[in-house]
Amino acid sequence: MKALSKRAQQVTGSMTLEIDAKAKAMKAAGVDVISFGAGEPDYPTPAHICAAAEEAMAKGQTKYTPAGGTAQLKEAVCRKLLRRNGLTYRPEQIVITNGAKQALHNAFCMLLDEGDQVILPAPCWVSYTELIRMSGGEPVLVPRRREDGFRLDVNAVERAVTEKTKAILINNPDNPCGQVLEEDTLRALAAIAEKYDLYLIADEIYEEFMYDGLQAPALPSISEDAYNRTILVNGLSKSYSMTGWRVGYAAMPPQVAKKMGAWQSHATGNVNSVAQAASIAALDGPQDTLHEMVAAFDQRRRDMAARIAQMPLIECLTPQGAFYIMADISAMLGKTAGGRVLTDSFAFTEALLEQAHVAVVPGDAFFAPGMIRFSYALPSEALQEGMDRLQRFIESLQ
Ligand SMILES: Cc1ncc(COP(=O)(O)O)c(C=O)c1O
Repeated sequence: MKALSKRAQQVTGSMTLEIDAKAKAMKAAGVDVISFGAGEPDYPTPAHICAAAEEAMAKGQTKYTPAGGTAQLKEAVCRKLLRRNGLTYRPEQIVITNGAKQALHNAFCMLLDEGDQVILPAPCWVSYTELIRMSGGEPVLVPRRREDGFRLDVNAVERAVTEKTKAILINNPDNPCGQVLEEDTLRALAAIAEKYDLYLIADEIYEEFMYDGLQAPALPSISEDAYNRTILVNGLSKSYSMTGWRVGYAAMPPQVAKKMGAWQSHATGNVNSVAQAASIAALDGPQDTLHEMVAAFDQRRRDMAARIAQMPLIECLTPQGAFYIMADISAMLGKTAGGRVLTDSFAFTEALLEQAHVAVVPGDAFFAPGMIRFSYALPSEALQEGMDRLQRFIESLQ
C-alpha cells in the first residue's frame, strides 16, 4: 500500500481530547475520576436555546442551509458583534463554521501557501500548530515565561517576522495561560501587522471569561487598518455551554469571506441547521446564565489558585481570563510516585491519573514543559476534592 500523505503522517491527535477520553473511560469503568482536563463548561446548555432547537425541528428546519450559514444567524452574529464589540459587519462578511475550530482551519487555508509562517505566542492551545501545518504553513512560536506572568513581548513578535510571515495569531484571553492582552498590546501588534503587511487572526472564543474587571477590545476594533486585516474567530461553545452543538463563526473583510464560504461549500457544507437556529436564540436571548457561569468560574479560579498556593512543589499565577490554570510542577520532576519516576509532564499526568484519579493535561502539549494545565470548569465540590487528592499525591512523592 502506498504511504499516506505527508500531511496525514505529520498530524497528531489532540492531547486534551486524549486525556479527557482516558479519564472518561476510567469513569465508565467505575473509577471515581475528577477531571480538570476538559475545555468545556460543566453548565448545561440553557433551556431557551434547547427549546429553539426543538422548535426549529418541529418547523422542519432540517434541510441544507446556505453553506456559509443562514441569513438569520449571520444577522444575529452581526448584531452581537455590534452590541458586544462595537464592530460593524455585514452578513456577507460572516461565515458560520463547525465550531471555532473550523473557522481557524478555514482561516489558515485562506491565508497560507506552502512554507508561509504564522507567528503565535507559546504556550499555546494544542490545535493551533497542527492546524497551521495541516494547511501547509509553519508555526513560529514566540515564548512567554511564567516568571514574566506569561506576558507577551511584542518586540519578540516583531523580531520573529521574516519574509515568509503571513499572519500573527492571538488568542485573547488565552488557553492555556489565561492571560489577557490589553489594548496597548493589541495596538502594538496591529502596528506590527500594518508595518509588515501581515494578516491578523484573533481567536476570541474566551472573550466573556475575563476577571478582575479586565476588559480587552476585540482586535478589529483597534483601528480601521486592523479591521481590514483581521479574521476574527469566535463561537458559542464556551459562552453558551454549547460544545457539542458545533457552532462557531468568523468575521472578516468581504473578499476573504467570499472565498471562505466557497471553500466551506466544498469541504463540509453548512453547519447543522438545527444548531444554527438554536444559536440565534443564544446570541439574541437572555445572557443571565452566561453571567452566572462567569461569576462561578471567577470564584473557582480564586479558590483553586489559593489551594495551589498552599501546596508544596507546585506554583501558579492567578489567571486573568478563560478557565484554565497553568501550574509549574518542575520541582516535582525527578521525584518518584508509587515507584514511577516523574521524568516530565507526561509522566506526571499519567501517574496523577492512575494513582490519584485526577486528570490534568501535560504542559508539553502546549509547549510548556514542566507545567500542567487545569481546567476549572467543574463543580466546586469536585474541584475541592480534586485539590485534596492532588495535595495528598504531592505529599506522597519521594
Ligand atoms: C483557544 C481555543 N480556540 C478554539 C477552540 C475550539 O472551540 P470550538 O468548540 O468552537 O471548536 C478551543 C476549544 O478548546 C480553544 O481552547
